[in-house]
Amino acid sequence: RMPTLEQCYNLMDFEAVARRVMKKSAWAYYSSGADDEITMRENHSAYHKIWFRPRILEDVGKIDLSTTMLGTKVDIPFYVTATALGKLGNPEGEVILTRGAKKHNVIQMIPTLASCSFDEIVDAKEDDQVQWLQLYVNKDRAITKRIIEHAEKRGCKGLFITVDAPQLGRREKDMRSKYSDVGSNVQETGGDNVDRSQGAARAISSFIDPSLSWKDIPWFLSVTKMPIILKGVQRVEDVIRAIETGVQGVVLSNHGGRQLDFARSGIEVLAEVMPVLRERNWQDRIEIYVDGGIRRATDIIKALCLGATGVGIGRPFLFAMSAYGLPGVDRAMQLLKDEMEMNMRLIGCSRVDQLNPTLVDCRGLSMH
Ligand code: FNR
Repeated sequence: RMPTLEQCYNLMDFEAVARRVMKKSAWAYYSSGADDEITMRENHSAYHKIWFRPRILEDVGKIDLSTTMLGTKVDIPFYVTATALGKLGNPEGEVILTRGAKKHNVIQMIPTLASCSFDEIVDAKEDDQVQWLQLYVNKDRAITKRIIEHAEKRGCKGLFITVDAPQLGRREKDMRSKYSDVGSNVQETGGDNVDRSQGAARAISSFIDPSLSWKDIPWFLSVTKMPIILKGVQRVEDVIRAIETGVQGVVLSNHGGRQLDFARSGIEVLAEVMPVLRERNWQDRIEIYVDGGIRRATDIIKALCLGATGVGIGRPFLFAMSAYGLPGVDRAMQLLKDEMEMNMRLIGCSRVDQLNPTLVDCRGLSMH
């Protein structure tokens, strides 16, 4: 029998329900990774290589999970990352994630390729609620400039430029399912000559500029006051270059394992990056985010111990939304909050600014 919402006790439970209730092609688009899906699986299992070194006899009577991301105070250190085509999972689409994010005071990153229009998603937020924009850069920079200016005008507080997708990865589950309805907003944002024979991902991505390079970044910095964050950085050399180029943040990410198979997990890259930044005393020059495979609050805590400002979570909220709508998203976020409060207590920390590398044993990661 199908579990009820109250019988979902962790983020994985939503995935199991979504798999049973979703259309096969929609499930294929959300759940697939590139090639053999080695990176997709590694994203979560990499967290299993890190163990805790908890402190004892600290006063953990009161736990405060709040922190600040790009100047915005949030209640818990995760954000809802950008995932395209929300209406594949639920007819209302991304606005459900907007409402869930509001309820838990977390930030939502709006995807370029949302199913709802950008304005619908902004209109769905409360006045005090913060959103960011994920940007796929169009070959036609006039279109890209219009998107950026409009996002800034509508109050977006961060511009996340996706840099790991000069070409969309080969997601074979998705390709086999030949999705037929990619939605109207997607065609407006540039999915011009849509070829549906290669799955949803291929159909919507033909406008993305594969010639985007470091030389273009100063232009982005010049056309907006929003902080700019590069989403999809995968090695320390590029974090250094990002700092030198003047951007305000990076997301260590492999796009949920949907792009380059055998890319390393974000947490593995974080363990490579932070010691180098600390050695240069550059750790405060940039905000570092991590996404991919985060399913437990202990994953969030591990990333923060290693130096992340916050983490992005993608599929779990899509699956919660597909299985149960807004109540599902609400419960998924609440479960994470409850898990995090308990685990903070068990490692002996009452605030996230107390999380530090001495609280984890990373000898299982390959960087050690
Ligand atoms: C994504 N992701 C993504 N990233 C991006 O920059 N633009 C996009 O349009 C999308 N679309 C998208 C669709 C779907 C269905 C998924 C699952 C992912 C990647 C996303 O932002 C993030 O990097 C990963 O989803 C994080 O991994 P988890 O949490 O899904 O494991």
